[in-house]
Amino acid sequence: MQLLTTALLLAGLVSIRTLRTDDNDSVASYEGQRLTSMPEISQSIKVLLLSFNNIRNISLHLSSCLPNLQNLLAGNQQSKSVYIGDRAFINAPNLKFLDLGGNKNAVIHQDAFVGLQKLQVLYLDSIGLNESILEGNYFRELVSLQKLILTGNRIKRLRPDPSFHSLKSLEYIDLKLNLIRQICGEDLRNLQGLHLSKLDLSSNYLSYNSTMNCPTISNSISVEVLDISSNPLNLVGVEKFFNISTGIQISELVMQHSILGKNFGFSNLKDPDASTFTGLTKNSVRSLDLSRAFIFELNPSLFVGLSHVEKINLSFNKINKIHQGAFNGLGNLKMLNLSNNLLGEIYAESFESLRSSSVNYLDFSSNHIGAIQYNALVGLNTLETLDLRNNALTRIPMSSLPNLLYLLLGKNRISSTYGLHQLIKNAVLVDLSFNQLQDLGGIQDILTIHTLRYLIMSYNKISTCTASAFPTDSQLYFLDLSHNSLNEVWRSSSCLDIFHNMKQLAFLKLSSNGLINLPKNIFQGLKSLNVLDLSGNLLRSLSSNLFLSLKSLKSLSLSNNSLLTLHPSVFEPLPSLTIVSLSGNPFVCTCEMMALVNWLPHSNVTIAGSSEDTSCAFPLTLKGVPLTSLQEEDCQ
Ligand SMILES: *[C@@H]1O[C@H](CO)[C@@H](O)[C@H](O)[C@H]1NC(C)=O
Ligand SMILES: *[C@@H]1O[C@H](CO)[C@@H](O)[C@H](O)[C@H]1NC(C)=O
Ligand SMILES: *[C@@H]1O[C@H](CO)[C@@H](O)[C@H](O)[C@H]1NC(C)=O
Ligand SMILES: *[C@@H]1O[C@H](CO)[C@@H](O)[C@H](O)[C@H]1NC(C)=O
Ligand SMILES: *[C@@H]1O[C@H](CO)[C@@H](O)[C@H](O)[C@H]1NC(C)=O
Ligand SMILES: *[C@@H]1O[C@H](CO)[C@@H](O)[C@H](O)[C@H]1NC(C)=O
Ligand SMILES: *[C@@H]1O[C@H](CO)[C@@H](O)[C@H](O)[C@H]1NC(C)=O
Ligand SMILES: *[C@@H]1O[C@H](CO)[C@@H](O)[C@H](O)[C@H]1NC(C)=O
Ligand SMILES: *[C@@H]1O[C@H](CO)[C@@H](O)[C@H](O)[C@H]1NC(C)=O
Repeated sequence: MQLLTTALLLAGLVSIRTLRTDDNDSVASYEGQRLTSMPEISQSIKVLLLSFNNIRNISLHLSSCLPNLQNLLAGNQQSKSVYIGDRAFINAPNLKFLDLGGNKNAVIHQDAFVGLQKLQVLYLDSIGLNESILEGNYFRELVSLQKLILTGNRIKRLRPDPSFHSLKSLEYIDLKLNLIRQICGEDLRNLQGLHLSKLDLSSNYLSYNSTMNCPTISNSISVEVLDISSNPLNLVGVEKFFNISTGIQISELVMQHSILGKNFGFSNLKDPDASTFTGLTKNSVRSLDLSRAFIFELNPSLFVGLSHVEKINLSFNKINKIHQGAFNGLGNLKMLNLSNNLLGEIYAESFESLRSSSVNYLDFSSNHIGAIQYNALVGLNTLETLDLRNNALTRIPMSSLPNLLYLLLGKNRISSTYGLHQLIKNAVLVDLSFNQLQDLGGIQDILTIHTLRYLIMSYNKISTCTASAFPTDSQLYFLDLSHNSLNEVWRSSSCLDIFHNMKQLAFLKLSSNGLINLPKNIFQGLKSLNVLDLSGNLLRSLSSNLFLSLKSLKSLSLSNNSLLTLHPSVFEPLPSLTIVSLSGNPFVCTCEMMALVNWLPHSNVTIAGSSEDTSCAFPLTLKGVPLTSLQEEDCQ
């Protein structure tokens, strides 16, 4: 039911209201009831659910006219074969959504869909159809049809019959997992002039060679997204395919899982080069997905002529070398995704050709990049996001990226923030999580980036702090220092004033830092702080003045510490406090605790989580008793 509901909602054809199960005037649900024939249904029904029965003859002939019926789901009949006969749905002239998918060995009468002039979505997936479904005039009356789903059949060619001329609303044809080998010449004649939002030809048998007789596709259609992923197209195959498909206007070309390169170590194969995509130059492709295609090297001028392309996805290839000029001609490129490849170094020559583009997003994540040549990134003046996460960098790249907003360096081996404030003068976010930073004092330089709002330094090895003075005009809004060793830093009395000038800071995460004590004035000045996370430390007690300055604090987590007792005077100075997490502390429920227990109902503070999580550990007679249910007479 969940699935069906989701499917219907996705199809946008039924609102949540009409599917309410108690609304049984409009929904007739007969799923999985071992029916062998169509049930009688009343005229008021709007949605008829018949999937997972044993009906062999799907037809609405038994009923009188069903003017209200809009959705019929009759897929996955368990019988050996299913018959859908002459004018089977003629009594439901307002049907919009029809699902016959998964009916094994369906036999469909040529006139089965006659009368369905309102039908918008037709599911005929996995029902054993061959190409005659496209060639036998079946759909001639479906003038409102938008989506035709033919996934998982045995269709060998794409040569739609003239009835497709009447399908003026058709926008989506799904033919994935069929047996289509080639599309040539006049094949798409009857789709002439159509504007499809998607044509899915993934997981077919598409392949071309240079000697086969396959004339240029002569008709013009436009397709927003053409998906030819997972076909046995090799380098010659795609070149030929692009050469002959100049009549198809494509905005987004998806060809994941192709075999376009020599992979790792197969030197007898070639990688794509300047001729591979020449056929596409007459097209206005804006997005090219070449992921998972075994490409090993990016050759010079590989994309030359693709001046409309804005987005290239080269993730999950085997790219380890980017030749000079590889990105020539990509004047409009905005997004380049090279994640999950085998890049080890980044050389200046590789990206020279990107300087004349307007690239604003570079994704190099999950490579093995250990070195970035001095000035390799220079001149990328439109770059806004640089993702270098999950590489092997040991230092901040030396360069200057004046318009960079987001710098993602998480999961590297960087041990110092040296050079960061030269690299990004106008950044908003810096992610340095999961590195080897040791010195908290690096923040001093980072804070000179006046635009910086988010700084993430969690999961490092921060245990010292050498800084002279912290800038007074920090705009920092979010600071994550969790999973470090700040206890070491503050134990040696260094950088006790680190937060004092962070007047805009709203989120501060200090969890899992081995904190046993918090220095007295550590939170002084944090007048905008909303959320403070101190969970997972070793705090045993809190002094009543600790949070005094935190006039905006709304949420405080003290979970998983070693707090034995807690007095309401700790929270009383906090006018905005509404939620406190106290779970995972070994509270000793002596009468001292009653002050907190009695205070809570008179405050605006709620204890987070279930009451069982926040309970007494001692004395043994009260072990496990939730703090909130402690009674005056229980305590000793
Ligand atoms: C129809 O709805 C009524 C009231 O909501 C309910 O009592 C009844 O069981 C429903 N009948 C069926 C067949 O779902
Ligand atoms: C299928 O059902 C319809 C309506 O009951 C009937 O007219 C038709 O003869 C049936 N066809 C087969 C093959 O049983
Ligand atoms: C395709 O299916 C139709 C209808 O089931 C059948 O009559 C025809 O013989 C099939 N054609 C091929 C080539 O298998
Ligand atoms: C090219 O494809 C045709 C048709 O599929 C086939 O007959 C021919 O053998 C292929 N040629 C090569 C060189 O693979
Ligand atoms: C594609 O077209 C170009 C230019 O017309 C031609 O040089 C090349 O041989 C063609 N490639 C194939 C595989 O047909
Ligand atoms: C890029 O390719 C990967 C791998 O095939 C895919 O998961 C991802 O959705 C693609 N991203 C975009 C933005 O197309
Ligand atoms: C790049 O590709 C990876 C892997 O498919 C994907 O996870 C990531 O979201 C993509 N990056 C962008 C910016 O789309
Ligand atoms: C507290 O510790 C428990 C057990 O280790 C863990 O499952 C839980 O997520 C932690 N809670 C918080 C808020 O850190
Ligand atoms: C609780 O919140 C209300 C509304 O913000 C405020 O007027 C009231 O003083 C608060 N009560 C306490 C005990 O802080």
